[in-house]
Amino acid sequence: MDVKKRSSTTPWQFATSETTMVRPLLLKPQWMNGLSERLLVSHYENNYGGAVRRLNAIRTRLATLDWAQTPVFEINGLKREELIAASSVILHEIYFDSLGGHGDNPPSGAEEPPAGLAQALERDFSGVKAWRTEFTSMAKALAGGSGWAILAWSERLGCLINQWAVDHAHNLPGATPILALDMYEHAYHLDFGAKAAAYVDQVMANLNWERIGARYRLAIGEAAAEEDELFLPFGAPAQEEARISAEELKTALESDDNRRPVLLDLCLPRDLPRRTDMLAGASMHAPGALSLWVEELPRDRPIAVYCICGFQVSGRAVTELRRRGYDARALVGGITAWHAIGGAIVPLDTSTYEGAS
Ligand SMILES: [Fe+2]
Repeated sequence: MDVKKRSSTTPWQFATSETTMVRPLLLKPQWMNGLSERLLVSHYENNYGGAVRRLNAIRTRLATLDWAQTPVFEINGLKREELIAASSVILHEIYFDSLGGHGDNPPSGAEEPPAGLAQALERDFSGVKAWRTEFTSMAKALAGGSGWAILAWSERLGCLINQWAVDHAHNLPGATPILALDMYEHAYHLDFGAKAAAYVDQVMANLNWERIGARYRLAIGEAAAEEDELFLPFGAPAQEEARISAEELKTALESDDNRRPVLLDLCLPRDLPRRTDMLAGASMHAPGALSLWVEELPRDRPIAVYCICGFQVSGRAVTELRRRGYDARALVGGITAWHAIGGAIVPLDTSTYEGAS
């Protein structure tokens, strides 16, 4: 759940420590329960990604500010926008992290909170059902407007609270959000039009209570270290050195020496219709045809492997390439995370794809 950077090692060039990195989607957008891939990916890339890009741009501006000479209205504006952007980033991450199935399985719609969290909801709301009624009613009351419905842990009050938030920067002081439900129109309009209540019910049928429970345990100081794995895309390489973030890859690609990574775009045949673009200079291949294309890869260059969202397709390939001695890393979050940081793309070229006609 750590949103900060990780340490760097050569020869890969990493993003600066000041950069707020995008977090990968943990849900599989193509098979959610009544929430479309188009809606989820648009929300992630444009609204969440836009907030990350805006936050980084504001912080870049703040880093160069002459504080003593800058007019107060400019300071006020920048600090207000920084708070809104940072809060939007964090709440969107909690929202997306809270959705999805378990492992490789779609959400069942029948998941319930884990025991510890269920007991806390019983203590503070007279039961899970009562909590759910209050939470969803609060969210539905925001229909036609905008804002967030938040379940948060308040250390000061000593209980979980359902909190209404009219904008991204509206939070009970000191409270830690456990679950955030996005009620801005961009979160549902593509699928539900103005039917915000139907959207709320569908979100509740997609909750990943395992991750929500882990976030609760983190808030109350009882998180287990192994729970960090819940916050990696399913199938992504477990070793940190086998992964590269979108920001790190962007920086590495800007280098002009011969250590610039080779780009490998992997896609299952069934997923080709989901693709429209790719990173410039990438070669596209079928993961199942690895024995046909692996020998073309240079052994003296780093290799960045990506798929759509950074789950098993790139994860398994990177594991195999590293087993064969290649310096390969999987792009965390795949091309979806690349889109979210505003990375450059070109139209899809399948001419190198095995079986392409
Ligand atoms: Fe949103």
